[in-house]
Amino acid sequence: MNTVLITGGAGFVGIPTVQQFLNSGADVTVLDSFRVAPITRRETLTKLGARVEVADLRDADAVNAIVKQVQPTMVIHLAAIHFIPYCIAHPAEALAVNVLGTQHVLDAVANAQCVEVFQFASTADVYRPDLAAHHEMSIIGSDNVYGQSKMIGEELVAIRQRQGAFERSVITRFFNVVGPGETNAHLVPDILDYLELGDALPLGSTDTKRDYVYVGDVANAVHSLVTTDHGPSVTVNVGTGSSYSAIDIVEALATITDRPLRVQTDPAKVRRSDRPNLQADITALQALLPGFTPTPLTVSLAEALAQRSLESRDLAA
Ligand SMILES: NC(=O)c1ccc[n+]([C@@H]2O[C@H](COP(=O)([O-])OP(=O)(O)OC[C@H]3O[C@@H](n4cnc5c(N)ncnc54)[C@H](O)[C@@H]3O)[C@@H](O)[C@H]2O)c1
Repeated sequence: MNTVLITGGAGFVGIPTVQQFLNSGADVTVLDSFRVAPITRRETLTKLGARVEVADLRDADAVNAIVKQVQPTMVIHLAAIHFIPYCIAHPAEALAVNVLGTQHVLDAVANAQCVEVFQFASTADVYRPDLAAHHEMSIIGSDNVYGQSKMIGEELVAIRQRQGAFERSVITRFFNVVGPGETNAHLVPDILDYLELGDALPLGSTDTKRDYVYVGDVANAVHSLVTTDHGPSVTVNVGTGSSYSAIDIVEALATITDRPLRVQTDPAKVRRSDRPNLQADITALQALLPGFTPTPLTVSLAEALAQRSLESRDLAA
């Protein structure tokens, strides 16, 4: 049986990832500060069958003690601050959690000498902005502190691996994850909030395109990549290969909800620097996971919407 430590396991990607590992019979411990994830998810995780340790990645002693006690064979490192506007406004905090925090996890893993596989949640934001789809050898060069923190994180993983802290590493560069359970104020949750107020949706940049990958597909990919030996180090995009604009999303939601939705550009919401297109080349992912077929965006949106409706009904009750 695999013993798995999942940092950030209470988050958006974390919950379905925890489920994947529990379903495959693993013994799962979550390390999370519940800084972003609501504290109610502690009970959710316990009910699913995971152990929960509340700790902050910036506390090296706490992280070390948890790794020493859990003795994981696999570490899934998802915890980070990843809402880009927040990272830009709080660069020191973003670096403390994403860089120093990652080093603390790696140091604890090196001390424990029990970990076989280390997975690191990196991002498409490490790539230098380009209109073309990015493959894993595309030029690296993020223009913001979040992407830079993940570029450094990838390097820190490689250094610890060369020093013998673990046998295999899996670096997953997630594109824009969508679906139920999202924790940060990204475009889709923003649109879902506005849907509750009316048919006119005040949005920022409406023509920039993103590659929206379903959260369940991301969890599946992480689980498969970690539990199958694909060689000592794998760096792979996790996306769909297609990109869509905010207008495309609104049109899809108009069809799903059968409402006459329309967009009103809100200049206050336009990000000062925004890539025109962020899209994955998923040739490598499909080679590693034959049969990987991305869930259609309409399905992810319908699931996110259905979860919202359930939450609104529960709040009203
Ligand atoms: N969601 C996306 O679109 C996306 C895209 C690219 C990369 N990623 C990366 O994937 C990972 C998971 O993303 P997510 O969408 O689930 O984010 P999330 O914010 O929902 O989850 C992150 C989790 O980390 C926890 N956390 C934050 N700071 C912490 C700290 N100092 N100590 C301990 N725990 C802390 C939060 O409480 C949260 O549960 C992150 O590393 C993120 O950078 C996400």
